[in-house]
Amino acid sequence: MLIRKPRSNEIRPSEITPRHVFENRRQFMTGVGMVGLGAIAGGSLGGLLAPETASAATTLATIKNDKYTLAGLGEAAPTDKVVASTYNNFYEFGTGKGDPADNSKDFQPLPWTVTVDGAVENPGTYDFDDLINPHQLEERVYRFRCVEAWSMVVPWVGISLGEVIRRLGPTSNAKYVAFETLYDPERMPGQNRSPIPWPYVEGLRMDEAMHDLSLLTVGMYGEVLPNQNGAPIRLIVPWKYGFKSIKSIVRISFVEDQPPCTWNIANAREYGFYSNVNPEVDHPRWSQAKERIVGTGIFAERRKTEMLNGYADQVGSLYDGMDMSKYY
Ligand code: MTE
Repeated sequence: MLIRKPRSNEIRPSEITPRHVFENRRQFMTGVGMVGLGAIAGGSLGGLLAPETASAATTLATIKNDKYTLAGLGEAAPTDKVVASTYNNFYEFGTGKGDPADNSKDFQPLPWTVTVDGAVENPGTYDFDDLINPHQLEERVYRFRCVEAWSMVVPWVGISLGEVIRRLGPTSNAKYVAFETLYDPERMPGQNRSPIPWPYVEGLRMDEAMHDLSLLTVGMYGEVLPNQNGAPIRLIVPWKYGFKSIKSIVRISFVEDQPPCTWNIANAREYGFYSNVNPEVDHPRWSQAKERIVGTGIFAERRKTEMLNGYADQVGSLYDGMDMSKYY
């Protein structure tokens, strides 16, 4: 592992986060990381910020990915931003839908490091800034389907997970990628109780992780990710039930064997490793055929759930020859 101090001309994602947050972060600067992964030369901070917004400090400059747009989903509008950031599952801050927003207000996500280990050429502890190139931030509008049979449409901001993985250089022994959330009960009060085992862990098969749809996410609605949505860095895997989209990631491990996943550990009868959205396979306690569209009022609209959450054309071939009802 190579420890280095960041070069002065590098533009860092923390510089496009709220001022008070990145000023805190500046005191950190241990600069862990490695050359080649985060070497972002040139560019100007002004160019990264969308101009003329009142809250410019929290706004991210993004490239809109025209493969994944609102129009592509056939929707008139995304889910309301307030709804998407107040109706959450993030058990580290409580199990109620409003708990994450209420209980994560004081959480300081930066400074943040992500440890990369296992079967990989470039292991190490990376500063958040060294993993995420702010010039590559894309906005992608995805449908997000929770296993609890509700869905949202969210413009996420992030970079392709595959792109980051390529730079980390997994070896041929890496068959899966495992992810781990921060374990810090002082900062994440929900971890003082045990509705699920801690830390929250998740995993993907290597080809799933490398698929273009898998997004390492740092923002939503053009802004830095709110704490309750998994700041500062989370996964979004849109063809899988929402619980695969692990929040506040501190470790990425390249492994040979299928890694453990929190909901499978907690209840293996109900949750498997793949957790692909499949309207034909009911949850043992409820149907998965339809989903409630969150934010559409008390007489909530419902829609038919689509195979692989509507992404079957893109990712269906990953599962050729597999019995999707057995590998749930
Ligand atoms: N990640 C962690 N670390 N802890 C959690 O409790 N909940 C999961 C997933 N990631 C969860 C998590 C579940 S069940 C869902 S549906 C989504 O996060 C919710 O993401 P959202 O709150 O941004 O909609």
